[in-house]
Parts: sequence; C-alpha cells; structure tokens
Amino acid sequence: MKHSLVVNDKNYSVEADSDTPLLWVLRDHLQLNGTKFGCGEGLCGACTVLIDGNPVRSCSYPISSLKDQSVITIEGVDPEHPVVQAWKEIDVPQCGYCQSGQILSAVDLLDKTSNPTDEDVQSAMRNICRCGTYPEIKKAVELSTELKRKEA
Ligand code: FES
Ligand code: FES
Repeated sequence: MKHSLVVNDKNYSVEADSDTPLLWVLRDHLQLNGTKFGCGEGLCGACTVLIDGNPVRSCSYPISSLKDQSVITIEGVDPEHPVVQAWKEIDVPQCGYCQSGQILSAVDLLDKTSNPTDEDVQSAMRNICRCGTYPEIKKAVELSTELKRKEA
C-alpha cells in the first residue's frame, strides 16, 4: 500500500505494509539512518522522532497511523539549535547509539518548557543510555536552556 508522509519538511510517498513501523520506513525507504533501532518494543527511546512536535517511539508506530502529520528526525534538527550546540559543548556522546533519540527528547522538552525544573528534565529524558551518559545529558539540557534564554 502507498503511504504519503512529510519528513523534515519534505514530501515522500512509500510503498509499505500498513503495519510497518515508521522506524523502518525512515531507515529502509528514506535512508534516514540517524534514527536507531534499540529494543523494538517502545522501551529504550533510541528510535524517538517528533510527530507534530511530540516525541514518539517510531519502532512502535505503524506507518498507517500517520495522517498528514509532520515527522522530524535527527537529520531535520537545525545544527544551530541550542540543544545541538550544548550537546557538542558538553561532548555528551560515548558510543553515540542512543543520542539521536536523546537529542529529540531534549528538543521537545525545550520547545515546550523554557525553564525546565529537575522534575521536568527527569520526566522528559527517559531514554536509555547503555554508556551511562546521564550526567552529561543533564548538564547539556541545562546548558541548552541557558543558550536558549540568551537567544530570546
Ligand atoms: S527501539 Fe524504539 S523504543 Fe527502543
Ligand atoms: S552513548 Fe552509547 S548508548 Fe548512549
């Protein structure tokens, strides 16, 4: 079946079974390989993308559920975004595998909360990092918030 979708502001049409997870459409059909496969069960967050500005675990999101919504993957995040700048400055990644999902979760947090509390950060940043970069992630979210404030 044909599915139309908008990813990173570009229109695509792909032929895929309706229950194909969005993750595999992004990776296998559109070659957007920055979105990663971790658990495949909606638990780890490695596959996080934004759909209409909300974080979604694309491994558990069938392509047929997309209805004229806009998908943002790591490839669509502005390199000048405060989150990306802070991630570089703090040098967060170790192996890097979980990081696209972490960054998209942080982008969502900052888009929705200009001055997140520790509780906000804890509840938004729930993606798993096997390398244990959680302290750096926390610092980078704090720095992103400062950078965003300076930009305003
Ligand atoms: S791969 Fe999607 S949540 Fe783990
Ligand atoms: S940086 Fe390696 S899993 Fe997070």
